[in-house]
Amino acid sequence: MIKVNGFTTDEEKHYDCPICKDLEYIIEGNRARDCKCREAKNYQRILVRSGISKAFQQKSFSNFSLKGKSKVLIAAKEMAENYVKNFHDIKKNKHHSVAFLGQVGSGKTHLSIAIANDLMKENVGVLYMQYREAMTGLKQNIMDEAYYQNEIAKYKTATVLLIDDLYKGKISPTDHNIMFEIINYRYLKGAPVIISSEYRVEELLAFDEAIGSRMIEMCRGRIIEFEGIDLNHRLAL
Ligand SMILES: Nc1ncnc2c1ncn2[C@@H]1O[C@H](COP(=O)(O)OP(=O)(O)OP(=O)(O)O)[C@@H](O)[C@H]1O
Ligand SMILES: [Mg+2]
Ligand SMILES: [Zn+2]
Repeated sequence: MIKVNGFTTDEEKHYDCPICKDLEYIIEGNRARDCKCREAKNYQRILVRSGISKAFQQKSFSNFSLKGKSKVLIAAKEMAENYVKNFHDIKKNKHHSVAFLGQVGSGKTHLSIAIANDLMKENVGVLYMQYREAMTGLKQNIMDEAYYQNEIAKYKTATVLLIDDLYKGKISPTDHNIMFEIINYRYLKGAPVIISSEYRVEELLAFDEAIGSRMIEMCRGRIIEFEGIDLNHRLAL
């Protein structure tokens, strides 16, 4: 490492993003455009502001245990790791999304976040949407058209959207309308979602077939259904 007067020279400094030297924009002529790292960094800042950044970072593949060697756990972890590894090819495909469904406490959120963390490291923007909280926020502002459109646009346009605990709580027709708007937009744009939900495929279809069938098509080949209380990690001795 070269040091000038005890300081590291600019060239020697370590940047998270060497392309923009962590400025998050690139100057081209007399214009500045966003660097590709900007979206992921924005979402990281949202996690920090919500106070869940640390808990989020703690969910990784390396601390996802396969103890008991349950077939579904092995398959789920393998699918999730392959998804990250091949994301840049998978995202071009019609079936570009993943879903972890079923049993409470089985690691659905853990694996979803492990995917998000690894994608974020590669500067792929993954917006974390805590379903119930996000829906409450959207519904509270539904009368303020400009604000509402701006809020819902975040979920529609994120490069990847992680919907955690989909359909948690009571579901009203308004919830279905909001979810349809988000899912249909992403379906048409070919924009990936990572879904965690305690409901299984049949139940997702029964809630709302228009939304459910789009999600299932997007996740085809990458839907994991956990079944059985023995998979509840919270109850593990
Ligand atoms: N295989 C595993 N290895 C290590 N930790 C795990 C594993 N499965 C789950 N956990 C941990 O157990 C807790 C519950 O897991 P998680 O929140 O991912 O479950 P979930 O399926 O999302 O449950 P819910 O349906 O209640 O949202 C978390 O702290 C998670 O990190
Ligand atoms: Mg969960
Ligand atoms: Zn950058």
